[in-house]
Amino acid sequence: MNGKIVISGASGQYGRMATDMLIEKGLADRLILITRTPAKLADRAAQGCDVRYGDYDKPETLAEAVKGAEKMLLISGTRVGARVVQHKAAIDAAAAAGLKHIAYTSFIGIDDPKNPAEVRHDHIETEHLMRASGMAWTALRDAHYADAMILMAGPQVMATGKWFSNSGDGREAMVWRDDCVASAVAVLTTPGHEGKIYNITGPDLQTFDEVAAIITEVTGVPIEHVKLDDDGQYAMFDAMGIPRRPVDDQSVNGIPWNSDDMVTFGQAIREGYLAVASDDVERLTGRKARSVRKMIEDNRHMLIAAARSAQQPAMGANP
Ligand SMILES: NC(=O)c1ccc[n+]([C@@H]2O[C@H](COP(=O)([O-])OP(=O)(O)OC[C@H]3O[C@@H](n4cnc5c(N)ncnc54)[C@H](OP(=O)(O)O)[C@@H]3O)[C@@H](O)[C@H]2O)c1
Repeated sequence: MNGKIVISGASGQYGRMATDMLIEKGLADRLILITRTPAKLADRAAQGCDVRYGDYDKPETLAEAVKGAEKMLLISGTRVGARVVQHKAAIDAAAAAGLKHIAYTSFIGIDDPKNPAEVRHDHIETEHLMRASGMAWTALRDAHYADAMILMAGPQVMATGKWFSNSGDGREAMVWRDDCVASAVAVLTTPGHEGKIYNITGPDLQTFDEVAAIITEVTGVPIEHVKLDDDGQYAMFDAMGIPRRPVDDQSVNGIPWNSDDMVTFGQAIREGYLAVASDDVERLTGRKARSVRKMIEDNRHMLIAAARSAQQPAMGANP
């Protein structure tokens, strides 16, 4: 492939990882990176990438941003439940600029209209727009990131010994974000992915009870999965100050999502809509998807330290 690849959401965690992998392949000078704040990507400009201003909420900025590219990696925005209009602006700009192929970071289990996960609507509607755009398309349907559970929520779980969720006994095959990104990079840099839907999942369908048992086994710290109903899960997030609806560019206690998203997500797991496991990571990347167990093992010291720090008296507290 000789043409340029434009990446939206390039300054985020997913976008940075994708850029790193593409640069490792020697493609820095073929990358166009979109951000609302080009200064954030000064390091990428220094590496030879073409950093351009673009804002999903200002469609007129996207025409210039995608110009000259052959392919686009459209990384979904963060305004869960209200992203279709943003993604439509990006797809329209890409089609108008004559791009040949668009790949989109979608989500598993979205074909079933009964799936209650709030993210379903954004993703299925975006896929429809992409498929109707006239460009070749590829849907990268990512499962729940193991990183979100083990690395982001993990320290709090370790500190309390309790993992509260409304996912009940539902199963999902959580996936490493790294494997999602490697799959996307394969789609962008190898032929034959036009018109394909990939389910990018981890290797094992597991309940949260099973994952809690693995954390307990690997760290030696007893972790209990406490099953909440949906109202209980909302109450927990409300008490943490997490907004029900998305707020752009905001994190509360390290959590960047809104509770309507997270509670309906747990409900979708509980009701079996996210119980999807495939070998698409291996088919795309040539290596097996990594497991949740491996992420726990690789981060064992961090998780144990989080449990220990909770047992220390707070700084300044009386002994
Ligand atoms: N499957 C899962 O479990 C899971 C978990 C987490 C996330 N995700 C998905 O992955 C996506 C990326 O996650 P991430 O962790 O990389 O997100 P992130 O680190 O929060 O980055 C968000 C990115 O979106 C860009 N962005 C936000 N609003 C924009 C706008 N109006 N116009 C243009 N760009 C905008 C930001 O760019 P600038 O600020 O530079 O403009 C930034 O690069 C999420 O949106 C979500 O759909 C999936």
